[in-house]
Amino acid sequence: MAKYSNQKNKIVEEEIAEAAQEIKNGNLVLFPTETVYGIGANALDEVAVKKIFKAKGRAGDNPLIVHVSNIEMVENIVKEITNVERKLIEKFWPGPLTIIFDRKSEKIIPNAVTANLNTVGIRMPSNKIAKELIEKSGVPIAAPSANVSGRPSGTKVEDIIEELQDKVSYILDGGSSDIGLESTVIRVNNNQINILRPGKITKEELEEVIKDVNVDTHVLGKVQKNEIVTSPGMKYRHYAPNTKCMMVYSKNKEKMINKINEITNDINKEGKKVLVLGEKSNLDKYISQKKWNIGENLNEIAKNIFTLLRKVDKEKVDLVIIEGVGEEGLGLAITNRLIRACEYNYIVL
Ligand code: TXA
Ligand code: MG
Repeated sequence: MAKYSNQKNKIVEEEIAEAAQEIKNGNLVLFPTETVYGIGANALDEVAVKKIFKAKGRAGDNPLIVHVSNIEMVENIVKEITNVERKLIEKFWPGPLTIIFDRKSEKIIPNAVTANLNTVGIRMPSNKIAKELIEKSGVPIAAPSANVSGRPSGTKVEDIIEELQDKVSYILDGGSSDIGLESTVIRVNNNQINILRPGKITKEELEEVIKDVNVDTHVLGKVQKNEIVTSPGMKYRHYAPNTKCMMVYSKNKEKMINKINEITNDINKEGKKVLVLGEKSNLDKYISQKKWNIGENLNEIAKNIFTLLRKVDKEKVDLVIIEGVGEEGLGLAITNRLIRACEYNYIVL
């Protein structure tokens, strides 16, 4: 059973030092970041990193993000940092942006972290506890989102403690994650940014650094069987509750609400139940008996969505219908998570 420091964001130095000692000893630590919680291990220790894959039941071909607390750690691992990458680092680090670099040929980072790729994804988190944990460990920390593979990422310890407490040595509880969605993952090629996974840092914000920003086709498109993808994580079932889910979106609110009511009516006629997840101000327009508020704006929705997706199975309904949010700004990241949670079962009108 893990040692659990549950003082939320009042975690004391000594506890971070104890957790850092676990990292140095080759053990796993559950820790907060500004995006979602991570399950961390010493990124330079192959045996420790393999424990992460086992704890999550994660496919070995899905690489981990390496978390650093200073630029020297990056320089130690990567072949080079280009001018564009430096500009991005200056603007967005510490923060929710992961950059995919070419890794040094000496392979300082073990193959288990990068799933044998010649690249490595790195980010510098801004969360204070995460930063101190890395600093006190003195090594970069490899960490995926804290969840059993396929489940929604953990954004508060209460949501994940049951599934992970026996798998880590130390739990640092920093309260609810500020952002609630994982970092934006990008690769820079010849002055073009390719977004492999959208997140809090939006396409629009990246365009302020370089004009040429491309969204990978798999961000919203489905990966076909045996297709080679730029980011292996795109292939896997993710975020999905056991209950069947569906996303419905239209720019025209009335159209969206009518469609959701039409589907609810059809399902009800079969004697089955529907749960609608929508904006608070829309909820009284839905005919479904069960409805939940997902938040009033994109930031709130991002913060709430994983906790809500984790709760829907308890409701024992036959279908969950979730309002879509469009693709602008943070909407792209939310839509990317929702269509995966719904296993590509969605309607855009
Ligand atoms: O916000 C986050 O990024 C959180 C927190 C804990 O930092 N971490 C996270 O890790 O979301 P994970 O493992 O759940 O997602 C990492 C994603 C995966 O889709 C993976 O395929 C991709 O990043 N990735 C990692 N290294 C890569 C690489 N070298 N090339 C391409 N994609 C990579
Ligand atoms: Mg994940």
